[in-house]
Parts: sequence; structure tokens; C-alpha cells
Amino acid sequence: MTVVLGIETSCDETGVGLVRDGVLLGDALSSSMDEHVRFGGVVPEIAARAHVSALVPCVRAALDNARLTLDDVGAVAVTAGPGLATALHVGVGAAKAYAQALGVPLYAVHHLAGHAAADTLAHGELPPRSVVLIVSGGHTSLLLVRDLVRDPVVHLSDTVDDAAGEAFDKVARILGLPYPGGPAIDRAARAGDPTAVAFPRPLTGRNDPPLGFSFSGLKTAVARHVESAHAAGRELAVADVAASFQEAVADTLTRKAIRACREHDVSTLVVVGGVAANSRVRALAEQRCAEAGIELRVPPPRLCTDNGAMIAAVGDLLVRSGARSSATGLSVQPSIEL
Ligand code: KG4
Ligand code: ZN
Repeated sequence: MTVVLGIETSCDETGVGLVRDGVLLGDALSSSMDEHVRFGGVVPEIAARAHVSALVPCVRAALDNARLTLDDVGAVAVTAGPGLATALHVGVGAAKAYAQALGVPLYAVHHLAGHAAADTLAHGELPPRSVVLIVSGGHTSLLLVRDLVRDPVVHLSDTVDDAAGEAFDKVARILGLPYPGGPAIDRAARAGDPTAVAFPRPLTGRNDPPLGFSFSGLKTAVARHVESAHAAGRELAVADVAASFQEAVADTLTRKAIRACREHDVSTLVVVGGVAANSRVRALAEQRCAEAGIELRVPPPRLCTDNGAMIAAVGDLLVRSGARSSATGLSVQPSIEL
């Protein structure tokens, strides 16, 4: 059986994973997140430079972690997109070099297919059809996944503005809570009343796209609420605002995810990404999935966020299916080149 080396460099995480036959053997991760904080967002040049210095040490660390050597690697898989071009080039260049030097096949992997595959490392194969909700600082997407190897992942919807995690981070800043905002809001909300402020549920009107997401209006609603409290000289009930905002996000995400399952006759929902760690998102997803007879799968946090293991997981599926090297069959992002 083939050991697949997976490499992920699409954003600010340098991720390396080793997978054989559906089993994660070892992984390593390095993040340049701290270097971007003062710029208020990921700076592609800084991310790329960080990948250049972190990649080879991460490959070594993942191999050590798995008690393997490069000679054990039988295939290389790499994120080909979507992502920051300069950052992707580092991973793709390195993957080509490893594959060439080792004389093993190279597979291009779609980043979102990687997120969908992450759960297979925690809970085994996905059923023939599943809906995947990816909610992080960079994505808010619903995907229909049929067969990760033979069928293109279908992109059902996206956010039209901010990603869900981005909304958590921006609202935390408005409320004077620390970065990253998601965990801070999650903590603050514990002492709050989720019904205290009636924040809008974006894109849930009759004429709105039923699966579409938008979070920028919700963020503005929080900002207005805070401004009017200040203007009226009222003390801001931070816990109540945090809980009410979190409720609006959790309600919208879970409602639309379940709607996607119903529309596509799917009985498994996978939730991944940093926001999948949110206690209210998890609780509401569990409750609504149970009511709808849908199986809910949420991988552990380490596999939820960007990582190399998920890319190796797709590579492993490709190898086992006998796919030809570099032919992923994924058409979600046509601009991918390799
Ligand atoms: O997937 P991730 O670690 O990184 C990328 O975006 O690639 O997601 C990070 C995002 C941040 O916006 C963070 O605030 C959010 O996930 N997050 C949370 C929680 N933990 C992390 N959002 C809500 N509740 C949480 N408990
Ligand atoms: Zn991602």
C-alpha cells in the first residue's frame, strides 16, 4: 500500500500529512497567522515566504511523527487551488520536486475537496452522497460531495461577502473582544441571552437565494446596535450582543445546511472549518440534524482547519482508485493549472 505525502500551502498554514489506506500516519503544521495580524488580513508575500521556510521542516516533522523516511513515500498530493497564487506556487513547486526526486506520481488536489475528505480520516469513508458545510475565516461554502474521486465536488453556494469566521473576528473587534474573535465570542456568549437582540438572519427572505450566505449586513447590524447604545449612554451588554450575534450565525448556517441536504436528498452533513468549533453552531446542528434524521459528522478541530492531512487523504483516495497522476477530475475551479 502506498504512503501519500500531502502538501497544503493555499493560505497561511503550511500543512504536511502522510496517509496510507485511509489512515493518517503523521502530520505537521506551521502557521504564519501571527505575522499577518497587524495587517488585518493575510499578506500573500509574507505567507509565501513563510511557506518557503516552513515546508521542508514540516515534511521532516511529519515523517518523524509517522516514523517513516522519504523512501517510504509512494505518491505526492498537493493543493493546486483555489488559494493565494504566490502561496500555492511554493507547495506546488516543492511537490513537483519531491515527486521528481523520488520518482513517484504527483496528484493535484482541490482545496475544498481536501476539506471534505478531512472527515474520512476521523470517521471513515463518506457515504455515497453528503453535504459539506465549510465555515472558516476564509470560506463559507456548501458543497455536494458524491464521490471524491470520480465525480466533481459540486459547489452549491458561497458567501457573497464576509466569511462566517471573518464575521466573528470583525464583530469581536466591534465588541472590544480579542483576536481570534470566534473563541472570544463563544466564551462571552455563555453568560448572555441569545434572544436579547433580534439581529437579522441574512438571505433568509422568500426572494433570497435559499442556500446563499451573507454576513456583512449582520456585522453592520451589530455595529449599529453598539453605536446606538453608546449614543444613548447605555452600558453595552457585551454578553447579550455576543450571544445574539452567535445565535443569528448558528441559525442561518444550520438552517441552510439542512435545506441543502433536503434539496439534494442527502442524509449526511459534514461541518468543517474553524467555526465548526463554535459551541452554538455544534449544538444547533446536532439538534436540527437529529430532528431531520440527518447524520452529523464534525471532525476534530485539528482536521477542521487547513492542514496537509486532508490533502493526503484525497491523494490516497486517488491512488487507491487507480486515478492517473495529476488528473483529479475536479472542475470546481477551472483556473487550476499544474
Ligand atoms: O479554519 P480556520 O482555523 O482558519 C482559516 O480560516 O483558514 O478558521 C479560523 C476562523 C477564525 O475566523 C476564528 O475566529 C473562527 O474560525 N473560529 C471560531 C471559533 N473558533 C475559531 N468561530 C466561532 N466560534 C469558535 N469557537
Ligand atoms: Zn481552507
